Amino acid sequence: MKKKIKWICERLKSGRFKQLWIQTVWIYSYVRMYWKEIVFYTGTGLLGTIIGLVSSLLSKDLVDLITGHQASRLVMTFVWYIAFSAGNICVTQLLNYLSNMISLKVDQEMKADIFQKMLTTRLEPLMAYHTGDLLTRWSSDVSVISSGVLNWIPNLIIYTAKFITSFAVVFYYDVTFALLALIGIPVSIVMSKTLLSKMQANNKQSAAMNAKMSGFHQETFSNIQAIKAFDLIPLYVCRLQELQKDYFSMKKKFQKLSAMTSIMMSFVGIVVSYSCYALGIYRVFTGAITYGTMTLFLSLSGSLTSTLNALIAMVPTAVSITTSAGRLMDILDMPHEDFSERKQAEVFYKKNKRAGIGVCMENVSYAYHTGKKVLTDVDFWAEPGQLTGLVGASGGGKTTMLRLLLSLLEPQQGTMKLYAGDAGQDGNSQFQKDSQTLPLSPATRQLYAYVPQGNAMFSGTIADNMRSVKPDATDKEIIDCLKKACAWEFIGQLPDTIYEKIGERGNNFSEGQAQRLSIARALLKNAPVLLLDEATSALDIETEKQVLKNIMEDSLPRTCIVTTHRPTALKLCKNVYAIQDTRCRQLLPEEIQKIIRDF
Ligand SMILES: Nc1ncnc2c1ncn2[C@@H]1O[C@H](COP(=O)(O)OP(=O)(O)OP(=O)(O)O)[C@@H](O)[C@H]1O
Ligand SMILES: [Mg+2]
Repeated sequence: MKKKIKWICERLKSGRFKQLWIQTVWIYSYVRMYWKEIVFYTGTGLLGTIIGLVSSLLSKDLVDLITGHQASRLVMTFVWYIAFSAGNICVTQLLNYLSNMISLKVDQEMKADIFQKMLTTRLEPLMAYHTGDLLTRWSSDVSVISSGVLNWIPNLIIYTAKFITSFAVVFYYDVTFALLALIGIPVSIVMSKTLLSKMQANNKQSAAMNAKMSGFHQETFSNIQAIKAFDLIPLYVCRLQELQKDYFSMKKKFQKLSAMTSIMMSFVGIVVSYSCYALGIYRVFTGAITYGTMTLFLSLSGSLTSTLNALIAMVPTAVSITTSAGRLMDILDMPHEDFSERKQAEVFYKKNKRAGIGVCMENVSYAYHTGKKVLTDVDFWAEPGQLTGLVGASGGGKTTMLRLLLSLLEPQQGTMKLYAGDAGQDGNSQFQKDSQTLPLSPATRQLYAYVPQGNAMFSGTIADNMRSVKPDATDKEIIDCLKKACAWEFIGQLPDTIYEKIGERGNNFSEGQAQRLSIARALLKNAPVLLLDEATSALDIETEKQVLKNIMEDSLPRTCIVTTHRPTALKLCKNVYAIQDTRCRQLLPEEIQKIIRDF
């Protein structure tokens, strides 16, 4: 016996059971948060059970009065019956309304909570997931959990209470009848066991399939232009049909199984109710019970079987809730970004605003989770008041280096920090040994403005986009930045100027126009460090020169790092670093000249 218990404990601690336990504990954290709502749901359900029971007892009385020809009490009982039914309708609807509102509120709160947690998850592990998959986890899995949290425990209590009270009432009137109503239990348990294991597998398969489909839809609609241009419409229609075929066959298998199980369960239900009928008729004929008691038995025996089936069906529901919890935990258990030094970053900025803030990397090495080594022992300085260039072949690691500076990625080796400039003394701000420094972290991101490679405009108006980095910016400030980024020349001509709508990912602007808008937004942030990732690649030479000059003409010394190949930008750079074979080194003036000449 002892050995057996030990074996069970071991199994619970390891493998699937351990996972199930961890998932249950995770769900419990939300159960604790919403205990008041759960109590309300339980109360509502119990009230419904009592109403149902009283209604059964009233109909028993009604039948007895009719068959016993007691006309005097008949009217009164009938009035009670009608009043009770009317009251029942109103209360049920009111509680329905409240339950729906609560369920919506809890669903939204949980989604907001998990949304925030997902956004603060570190970028690199998150990038391993398809956005369609992330979207499905956030929307469907959270909904499964929120409705599970609100309904599962109340349902367990309600169905158990319903089963016990119905059984007690039947038992009170007739023991044999009560026992007869239970003959379906063993069959139902055996049935549900088969259904349960299949259901578990189906849940996982179905979630993975949903994620795949949602990824496919999202990718198709966001790349609609490329699909049309490459004449890929037939291919994509065919792909959708293939995905649908897989989905259909998965669902078909499961539907077959659940139909078979339902048939068996219903068959058991029919056997039980016909047996109850037969016994009821026999009892009425022998005069052991009244017609009213028989009506009561029949309604309660039906309710006993259905409650029992509902209780059994709660096991697969629990499985789907824990499966969804597991899928969310995959994401939420990944390391999170640490913003604890936000305050220090603010203080550092205020203190060194005038002198400028430089950025440096020392001995930094980085490889992606795929094993792809991108940087080895990199030393890099970008000084305040200067434009620092970063060149290298495509795929060499320029964007990766900017991601490291933004602390979107964490290096496996080396240190990265901000340092206080000393531009006041010789006009040449160098990193001094005694300079004040601050290690880079997600909290130092607030000191950067960033223009990413590719289009990064959000939908909304131009002003909305600009104000996303500075909510209190005036129209004049916005227009000034648009002028500096040479964007006012086309924005000023639009009917609604800065209140013109931007389409999805800026699709109503040319690439060069979207780049200028993106630069204007970065300038509006007025951060001490500005990162430009091929941000001027789509501009003509004159505009590029003008934009870069405007960027550097500022009252405060700004550190500006620009990844580029173009001579215009390189000519304006004080220092240029080149990445080659994972190594990064500072170029000599003659090497810079050679790149400019060879362009
Ligand atoms: N999320 C990622 N996961 C794994 N490897 C990546 C990831 N992003 C980039 N890489 C790899 O890292 C290397 C450097 O990429 P990066 O984007 O930094 O190059 P780049 O110098 O900016 O190139 P380009 O000039 O084309 O923009 C590439 O070989 C790329 O395949
Ligand atoms: Mg790049």
